[in-house]
This record gives sequence, C-alpha cells and structure tokens, in this order.
Amino acid sequence: MDMSNRISHRFDYLLKKIRRSDFSLHPFRHVEIKNFFSEEDFQEITTANEISTSASNDPALIEVLLETGYRIINFPGCVTETDRYIQWHASKHSDATANRHDTCEGFGMVLRLIEPKTNILVSLNEFLKGDAWNACLAEKFDLNLESCTRDCGLQKYLDGYEISPHPDVTRKALTYMVNINNGQHSESRTIHTHFLKMKPEWAYITEYWKGNPRSNRCWVPWDWCETVKRQTANNSIVVFAPGPSTMHAVHADYDHLEIQRTQLYGNLWLNKVEVDIEPVWQDHLVRGRAGARPRREKPSLAKRIINRVSKKLSRQSPKKESETHTKLNHPKY
Ligand SMILES: [Fe+2]
Repeated sequence: MDMSNRISHRFDYLLKKIRRSDFSLHPFRHVEIKNFFSEEDFQEITTANEISTSASNDPALIEVLLETGYRIINFPGCVTETDRYIQWHASKHSDATANRHDTCEGFGMVLRLIEPKTNILVSLNEFLKGDAWNACLAEKFDLNLESCTRDCGLQKYLDGYEISPHPDVTRKALTYMVNINNGQHSESRTIHTHFLKMKPEWAYITEYWKGNPRSNRCWVPWDWCETVKRQTANNSIVVFAPGPSTMHAVHADYDHLEIQRTQLYGNLWLNKVEVDIEPVWQDHLVRGRAGARPRREKPSLAKRIINRVSKKLSRQSPKKESETHTKLNHPKY
C-alpha cells in the first residue's frame, strides 16, 4: 500500500507507538501500550459530549446515548431490544435467562457511536478507518491488509455485558481495544477485559484448536480458565492476532448511570476462511473429564485392594458384547 503522498494526520504519533512497542507473551502474544493518547488528546476525548454521558435511570441513559449519536448494535452476548434490556436490568439478579449464551450469567447491551460530532472524535474516527492505521497494525502482526475487511467504532457497554472466555473465531485476523473511560475511578470498576489461559485440565482444547484450524473456536465456561491479567488502565491499548491461545473475556457488573465502559474497538476480518465445523463448548467435553478435578486423590489402601479383587473377578467373567460396546462410547473429539 503506497502512502508516500499521504497528508500527515494529528494522530500519526500513535503509529510510531505501535511500531516501537514490544510484544508481551503472557498469557499470549499481544501488544499493550499504556498512556496511548497524549495527555491533552486523552483529556479532550474523554470530556467530549459523546463520551461523558450520564443519566438518572436506564431509560433516560439509553435516550441520552441515542440522542448523542449512538446506535444499539448486534454484538456477541447482547440484546438489541431496549425494553428487554431495561426489564432484565430491573430484575438483574432474579431469573432472566432468555437469549443469553449458556456460558454466561447475564446479558448486556452495546451501543456504537455512529455519528461523532465533536471535532476530535470526527478526526479519530477518520484516522481509525484510514489506511495508515490499519496498515500499521497489519504490518505489526504480519497480516496482509488486502485480504482483510476493517471494522471499528467507539462503543459503550452497559451493565451486564458479558462474553465468557473465548479466543475469537478463526475469521478474526486482529482485535484491538483502547480504554477511553471518563471519570476518575474507572480502573477499580468491574468493567475490564480479562486475558486468560486454560486451566491444565482443559488445555487439550487449545491443542485441539491448534491441530484443527478448520474447526471454529468457541466460548467456554469461565471456570475452565484462569485470569492472568486484565486491561484496567485507562488510556491503554491492547492488540492481538486471534489464535488458539488468545483467551479473553469480560463481565461488566457496575453502575452505568454515572460512567459507562467505553472503548475504541476494532477488528480486521479475513475475507476468506475455510471452516468445516463449528463445535460448541459441550462438544469439547471428553467423556470422563466432565467434572474432572485437577488432581485425583490417591485411593486408600482398602479401596485399592477392593479394586484389585473386583478387577480379577471381572476378568474371570467376560462381559456381553452390548456391555463392552457401551464402554467404547467415544467422545466426539
Ligand atoms: Fe473476542
């Protein structure tokens, strides 16, 4: 992509920061840069009308966001009907299970700013959609930008937003997110993205994904993973190229009336990916491992003797064909 005649942009300093950044390897390969925007730019961004929204109740908040230029978007783990969301949120801790992923406890709502009006946000939107930014990210992660489609936006995630641990589907070539929360205490709120690794007893699923690139990757239950780090710092960016190990997750549980979890979020999507199957998390349950504990307690001496005797007896009385067959009921993978 030839950009030799390109006019410079006020956000070009971000390109240098990406190029000069080192990769972190834990829990998977990614770039994390703190103080991403300059102090002045960050101040101007987070005090813009579109970011510093607040209201006294849920219907008023959604109305304010819609008036400010946000639109409710279809996003994983979210509902798009305002009434359903408000109703669920009013009874958040009671039984409200409709339309949520079976690995999650709640469901949220995500809104994307479609028409920024404040100058700095108009300029930022133009920069993030432009060639220089996307080519810079693609180069950093050895991707061919020509074979990808860009998608990005400034998004707000209301309380209850949850996406359980997942590595991203195989069509996602790149994911980035920048925390641009307004308010002093965003870092201590329960709104941040977790970066995780599979617990040892479930690590075979990562290996399965490595060995089967045409099998799509799915969400898994929270307790199959452990959090290694969280992106809590305001004005920080994390970028990664999704693969079998890039487990990440979010569970927002906070009062969204004063401030809302706000991010610049973007992806590069591969235009063409071959996928043969789409297993869900239950398909990865290997028989005998369901409910498995990390370590097995050693059986007592008495138990070991009983086991040995019953094994001997079973060898003397062979099972019928049908019984043997039941034992050979292999898991799916
Ligand atoms: Fe994701």
